[in-house]
Amino acid sequence: MQTLISPSLLAADFTNLKADIEMVNNSQADWFHLDIMDGVFVPNISYGLPIVEQINKIAKKPLDVHLMIIDPDRYVEAFKKAGADILTVHYEACTHLHRTVQNIHNKGMKAGVSLNPHTPVSVLEEIISDIDLVLLMSVNPGFGGQSFIENTYEKVEKLAQLIKEKNASVIIEIDGGVNLETGKKLIEAGANALVAGSFVFGANDPSKTISNLKNL
Ligand code: DX5
Ligand code: ZN
Repeated sequence: MQTLISPSLLAADFTNLKADIEMVNNSQADWFHLDIMDGVFVPNISYGLPIVEQINKIAKKPLDVHLMIIDPDRYVEAFKKAGADILTVHYEACTHLHRTVQNIHNKGMKAGVSLNPHTPVSVLEEIISDIDLVLLMSVNPGFGGQSFIENTYEKVEKLAQLIKEKNASVIIEIDGGVNLETGKKLIEAGANALVAGSFVFGANDPSKTISNLKNL
């Protein structure tokens, strides 16, 4: 399977968002990665539902929405209405994760679970067969442009092993500090999807950078 590429709009030019969305539409990217931060679960605030709705009007690829918010159940329906196709919540933010996953599926979206760098993949043992995607954070969530945490490669391998053992069908997506070098090693370790923010939007040729990631 070719790697799925999900450019993170957090690093886009918000004064000219339309141009960046069209660039992604016309690129080899597979999804749009949208980072929602509440200033509580993570020490930063990004953008919210009205912006997602606007993005959805012109985005021609699925919206891969990463919720870095506490108690995400409150907003599952609202993000569905705003256009989310994949809704990823943090393991660390959900007391009743199984119920949250059911809620996401009942609303007709793919369900993802994200793990912070310090959270072991073993916590997913009892839920891995019920989810569509795992988003491993390879930086501490909250900001773009941080450097990659090397321990992630080992986590990818462990997760791939867990998925195999359980005979599950789950996408392994990685978020934070992804570039051509880390991306290549992540794919070798078993990753299926890569999020990239500053590496794509900070490049001279973002569309070419997306295809370079896609064809690693
Ligand atoms: C960080 C976000 C990431 C961020 C990645 O909390 O979840 O999606 O946009 O940015 P880069 O690719 O610049 O590390
Ligand atoms: Zn993200």
